Amino acid sequence: MDRIVVTGGGALSGQIPIAGAKNACLTLMPATLLSDEPLTLTNAPRLSDIRTMTTLLQSLGAEVTALNGGRVLALSSHGLNNHTADYDIVRKMRASILVLGPMLARDGRAIVSLPGGCAIGARPVDLHLKALEAMGADLELRDGYVHAEAKGGLKGAVVDFPVVSVGATENALMAATLAKGTTVLKNAAREPEIVDLAHCLRRMGAQIEGEGTSTITIQGVDRLNGATHPVVTDRIELGTYMLAPAIAGGEVELLGGRMELVAAFAEKLDAAGVSVEQTAAGLKVTRKNGRVSAVDVRTEPFPGFPTDLQAQMMALLCTATGLSVLEETIFENRFMHAPELMRMGAKIDVHGGTATVTGVERLKGAPVMATDLRASVSLILAGLAAEGETVVNRVYHLDRGYERVEEKLGNVGAKIERVREHD
Ligand code: UD1
Repeated sequence: MDRIVVTGGGALSGQIPIAGAKNACLTLMPATLLSDEPLTLTNAPRLSDIRTMTTLLQSLGAEVTALNGGRVLALSSHGLNNHTADYDIVRKMRASILVLGPMLARDGRAIVSLPGGCAIGARPVDLHLKALEAMGADLELRDGYVHAEAKGGLKGAVVDFPVVSVGATENALMAATLAKGTTVLKNAAREPEIVDLAHCLRRMGAQIEGEGTSTITIQGVDRLNGATHPVVTDRIELGTYMLAPAIAGGEVELLGGRMELVAAFAEKLDAAGVSVEQTAAGLKVTRKNGRVSAVDVRTEPFPGFPTDLQAQMMALLCTATGLSVLEETIFENRFMHAPELMRMGAKIDVHGGTATVTGVERLKGAPVMATDLRASVSLILAGLAAEGETVVNRVYHLDRGYERVEEKLGNVGAKIERVREHD
């Protein structure tokens, strides 16, 4: 299994291009199941999660061709011949559940294994299922699979989510585009990935209003057509690389970055003493002298501080002056990076969903273990600020969500390399 070796010290300078959003692409790809005409996604990220979704869609009989080195995905579902999403693929990635709504909406049936994914808490799919049931689907859980049927098609409904869920909003939104009548999604997620999905579906002929607010209204149509759609910028990759100069010092411009994608996060960086500036090409992040200041962080659904940047932000706050309190409200058990950061000399106390970080002058390099996608990159960021060598093991998590991390950070002056190992 590959390892990443980071040697700390030295300010960073230069530019890092930000890719298309993994989480947007993972919901845009299943949208192909809604139409028998081709869907082309441009600005796609090159990640193992995207390859997993490719395999899943292909297993259903869809055609998925990666063009331009994987930057463009040409999808077509005209020859769909299987309605079962198998456990062996679904277990690798929770986002696989996103094939359920579209398949059911178009063909009136779908069988999908219950998903796996990052080990960050229980992460049920009940909200996805309740939304589809409200639209008239008959669902049965049997042998670890959801068996869904909608004879005569889905029907428009009012779905009031008790908890904001990105995935459930996406599944319901896609399903509603082909349901008979009007669907109103209340307490819907407002993430930029939802807005991007709505834009793509509209290009395909869907009638949607209110994306980006907590009420989305969808007028069902009989069929959707093909479209070409560029994947929105990855705000989590953006935020992650914004932290690189914040932790290591220096000045880095994140190409393609936009403030509105990371406003709550940028506000916290500003409070910590890191400057973030919108430029014509992206966002420029600068930290010159001295340590950053402690700040308190509470994760929330968009537009709040994203849970997917909590681990990386903790890495920064490990080196701040003073005491920071991080509150995780979205997922339980999402502090698995804390004990690893502590191996590097960080002072962290975790109690339930709250972590208290006492900043230290300097972290020390150590062998650490990546436990999930965002945790693994937080350890790399911490390594940039640590004395000596940090070896991050089990980096397959990293490859699910970050393309060529060693190249992107290496290009701005970080001492980082991947040690390849073949088991
Ligand atoms: C998506 C993102 C993930 C991010 C998360 C929150 C993708 C592929 N993944 O995950 O990176 O961390 O949003 O921003 O886009 N919940 C239920 N029942 C459900 C669904 C969710 O109780 O049926 C709970 C979850 O356990 C969690 C909360 O709702 O506590 C939010 O989860 P959700 O927004 O659904 O996350 P995902 O869509 O899985």
